Amino acid sequence: MSSELSAALHDFAGSDPAAAEELLALMTRVHLERGSILFAQGDPGASMYVVARGSLKVTRADAQSRPTILAVLGTGDVFGEMSLLDANDRDATVTAVAATTLLELSRARFDEELGRRPDLVRALLGHLARRLRSSNDTVSDLVFADVPARVARLVVRLGERFGVPAEDGSLVVEHQLTQSELAQLVGSARETVNKALARFAAQGWIDVQQRVITIRDQDRLRAFSS
Ligand code: CMP
Repeated sequence: MSSELSAALHDFAGSDPAAAEELLALMTRVHLERGSILFAQGDPGASMYVVARGSLKVTRADAQSRPTILAVLGTGDVFGEMSLLDANDRDATVTAVAATTLLELSRARFDEELGRRPDLVRALLGHLARRLRSSNDTVSDLVFADVPARVARLVVRLGERFGVPAEDGSLVVEHQLTQSELAQLVGSARETVNKALARFAAQGWIDVQQRVITIRDQDRLRAFSS
């Protein structure tokens, strides 16, 4: 098994290669081109996924079809567990924003494993607890923080999750999102978010290019966001 796949399964299998191998044997590989929709909000769903490689966005639309992004996912992230567990329709649309490989676990397989794999159940519960913490952070930010602070926090979080250190000490974040999508993640208008990004750029904390943000002063950005 490639070390890339073991790394992706770390949350479920820890660092035990035998556990990862066993889990992998239950899963099917799925490849997605950039831009392809894996499933849409409201579709029936009977499997969950682990991201082996690539990047996806989780989006939702309201009754007026206005879109918002809930999350950007990368290697090791788990999704699709909500429909797997409660048998309701998909709560959000998931779209690949880069060429992506997923590992899929069907509900039938999961149900077969439930009784004999407490580690799998514990891992999934841990995942749900982290998701709830992250949603609570988002709610607190929306209620208590102003837009520039929310933008700074988003950039810091994207950096922590997807940043690649460069030789000059900066952190390069290839987030693959449009300006509108960044604004949706913050819950504000594109112009307001652009203004905040331009302000951080003018202060020398970041550089903004299309679909890439380079973080030059993470400490200042972090201090500003809290
Ligand atoms: P499911 O409802 O099966 O399909 C859509 C998936 O999007 C859902 O499972 C979760 O895995 C994922 N999802 C829903 N809400 C969020 C969120 N706030 N942050 C990250 N992922 C989410």
